[in-house]
Amino acid sequence: MIRDNTVCEASVTIRPMAESLSRLWRRLQSLLYFCEVHPFFELRLATAPRLQARIPIDMVRHDRACECPPEVLRRIKGKTKDWRSRWKRGDVCYVAYAGGEPAAYIWICRGQWRLQDEDEGRPLPPKSAFLYDALTREPWRGNGVYQALITRAVDELISGGYKALYLSVNDRNRPACRAPEKAGFLRTEHHICLYRLLKVFHFRHDAVSLGDGH
Ligand SMILES: CC(C)(COP(=O)(O)OP(=O)(O)OC[C@H]1O[C@@H](n2cnc3c(N)ncnc32)[C@H](O)[C@@H]1OP(=O)(O)O)[C@@H](O)C(=O)NCCC(=O)NCCS
Repeated sequence: MIRDNTVCEASVTIRPMAESLSRLWRRLQSLLYFCEVHPFFELRLATAPRLQARIPIDMVRHDRACECPPEVLRRIKGKTKDWRSRWKRGDVCYVAYAGGEPAAYIWICRGQWRLQDEDEGRPLPPKSAFLYDALTREPWRGNGVYQALITRAVDELISGGYKALYLSVNDRNRPACRAPEKAGFLRTEHHICLYRLLKVFHFRHDAVSLGDGH
């Protein structure tokens, strides 16, 4: 109760949240809402650098599911039910082997892009391809294996008359943004925002679409 002649000043104290409370808060936030931005990167094939890995690797293009090593198949099966769809639509898988073991792989789709296997393919600019689902297994990370795989794919795309290679990654995934930049990719203004509310509602917003007027 404020009595006569009492000057009452509002006061606010700001202090950092305790670590345990902050963890709880972040968890709660991620359950309620999330937003991811996936920028597109572009590599002009004519000027793409030719890079080698810092460890000895052999690179193989696997055109059929039955040729693909089980480690790669396992990962694809974990991502999509219709795991043969990638081969059915003519996508290409390049695998890097280190000491005979599959150390890394990348996938290339020609003429279309999609963020997830289940998505409908969207058109790319003419004579372009899309790089997706790249993985370097942990023991081999940081050795430029990813760039070497891209160099191999670029050589084949150029001989097939292709002009550009695109990819899209979550911009919070630092290695996934850093690795293409090292391979000569440049970030474009095109990006997709993914939103999720309460783990139930999913929205996707193509801020600028690659197929339109690019
Ligand atoms: C993104 C990825 C494919 C890069 O493969 P890579 O063969 O390690 O590529 P690079 O050797 O060029 O390393 C790229 C960056 O990864 C980071 N990195 C390096 N060593 C690392 C390690 N041991 N562990 C994790 N990240 C590492 C660094 O930021 C490095 O850039 P820098 O050398 O300028 O510091 C790999 O980190 C990966 O498989 N990540 C998980 C899957 C993924 O996010 N895929 C991309 C989206 S589809």
